[in-house]
Amino acid sequence: MWMQFSNGFAYLLSEAKNDNSMTKLKLIYEGKAKKIFETDDPALYIQEFKDDATAFNALKRGTITGKGAVNNKISSVLFQHVEKEGIPTHFVKQLSDREMLIRKVQIIPLEVTVRNITAGGMSKLLGIEEGIRLKEPVYEIHYKKDALADPLINEEHALALGLATRAELETIRQYALRVNDFLRKFFEKLNIDLVDFKLEFGRAGAQIILADEISPDTCRFWEKGTGRKLDKDRFRRDLGDVESAYQEMLEKVTGKLG
Ligand code: TMP
Repeated sequence: MWMQFSNGFAYLLSEAKNDNSMTKLKLIYEGKAKKIFETDDPALYIQEFKDDATAFNALKRGTITGKGAVNNKISSVLFQHVEKEGIPTHFVKQLSDREMLIRKVQIIPLEVTVRNITAGGMSKLLGIEEGIRLKEPVYEIHYKKDALADPLINEEHALALGLATRAELETIRQYALRVNDFLRKFFEKLNIDLVDFKLEFGRAGAQIILADEISPDTCRFWEKGTGRKLDKDRFRRDLGDVESAYQEMLEKVTGKLG
């Protein structure tokens, strides 16, 4: 009897720990837009989204009021959709406005981008105008190295530098293209062209999982028809109406606006 009660009590306690007041312990990483904290569960971290914004490898700095909460919510919704598509992610649950509970991963130092329409880095690199619809998605990997502004590399570089194995690179490529297939259709229904986006992956044990965030900081969103930009390019290029663009994307993604 007592053992039963005792076990039940322990179970209740551990359930209580996993509610929205999960304990935030040591700050283990602070990036430009997010902080990562340890928790009392060694398998879980808390990812906290900041309002800080940087561009051009932090040469330009600013604040986008409310961005942290918007990016947390948008990422939470999109990670859950992507999981349903069979792509494992680090998302566990949204804890608060700015906090997401995530699985602990070892980040692979690659910034993976997929492009559907020319813009930004690809237009600059190849000297081609923005807005050209690509005949097929362009998959790129960049070496995550701030000092060199994340240079474009190929899979041979990644292999030779030991950044990932061939099998891991193949999984990452497949997952990134599947995320693109899903997100493109998802945003199509919201009258948005998904121009391009950046993903980061990590290792959780032997498994490759999608990490980081999927938000207006890491994607380019153009309103269909008008080409109006609804992403971080409004900040990068001083286009104004930055906060309202983020809010608009939040309302669209959460289904509160057509
Ligand atoms: P790019 O055209 O500047 O290479 O950017 C491609 C996509 O990646 C775009 O949607 C913005 C996103 N991105 C990031 O998330 N972080 C970065 O540091 C950069 C440069 C781009």
